[in-house]
Amino acid sequence: MNNNDTDIVNIFENGQWYHSMIYKNIKSKGTFDYTKIIKNLNFPEMKNKSVLDVGCSDGFFSKYFLEELNAEYVKGVDINKYDGSVNFEVLNTYKKEYSDKYNKHDDFYNLKESYEKLGLKNSNKFLLTKNIFDLNMEFEYGSIYNLSNFEIHDVTFCGSLLEHLRDPITAIEQLYFKTKEYCIIDVSNSFKNIMPLMNKPYLKYTGAGGNFFHYSDKSIELMLKNVGFKSVERLKRYKIKIEKYDYKIQHSIFIGIK
Ligand SMILES: C[S@@+](CC[C@H](N)C(=O)[O-])C[C@H]1O[C@@H](n2cnc3c(N)ncnc32)[C@H](O)[C@@H]1O
Repeated sequence: MNNNDTDIVNIFENGQWYHSMIYKNIKSKGTFDYTKIIKNLNFPEMKNKSVLDVGCSDGFFSKYFLEELNAEYVKGVDINKYDGSVNFEVLNTYKKEYSDKYNKHDDFYNLKESYEKLGLKNSNKFLLTKNIFDLNMEFEYGSIYNLSNFEIHDVTFCGSLLEHLRDPITAIEQLYFKTKEYCIIDVSNSFKNIMPLMNKPYLKYTGAGGNFFHYSDKSIELMLKNVGFKSVERLKRYKIKIEKYDYKIQHSIFIGIK
């Protein structure tokens, strides 16, 4: 092992991860482990395409698009400032509760030495992923509600973010403006297949301060169509376990073609 390896391993073994990520034979302990299921999610080939990954988090999906689907380049956008502040829009009434919780998510102070040795000024794991795996991807701070400063990309992707937004329609419209060919949206906590509401365009307000709606598949499809996507298809319905709780949540992935 060289010096870099020791620091990478330290962050993989002791850091806070949203996705389980594999480095050599070490797997980080993510909230979600997509490593075995990602190949079954029916993402299309992205050969030579540029991708705008909005809400990119640690870059797990960006890495997959580059390494496995042969995308040319990924621009990752995220509202996370990596300073321990809340990286979701939350209602004022929930701000204090979320601030306390999110402060604990930042592993920078415990692992500062390793991050700094790897050339990072904060715990931005997208940049860590880029550096470790030498990937053609760049990070830029930004919000899905205003993508006007970003270039149009062949592909846009937005994973597990819609459910955290108070205004999903503006968000999908912003993705539309930046899409040249197709947009892929993965939504968690979508209604279960057996629900009678599944075939109606319904949103259910969860009553929470930072996780606003549950969606029926029909509602996502309708929103994608109404912002202008010519054809919309569901790529997959799947369940994924929250590693800490041994509980699985439902997801739906859609593709909107321009
Ligand atoms: C639940 S994670 C999903 C990560 C990854 N895209 C996936 O599919 O697993 C949502 C990400 O969106 C980011 N985020 C939250 N609100 C955002 C906004 N308004 N604009 C851009 N990113 C946002 C969060 O910081 C977080 O990294």
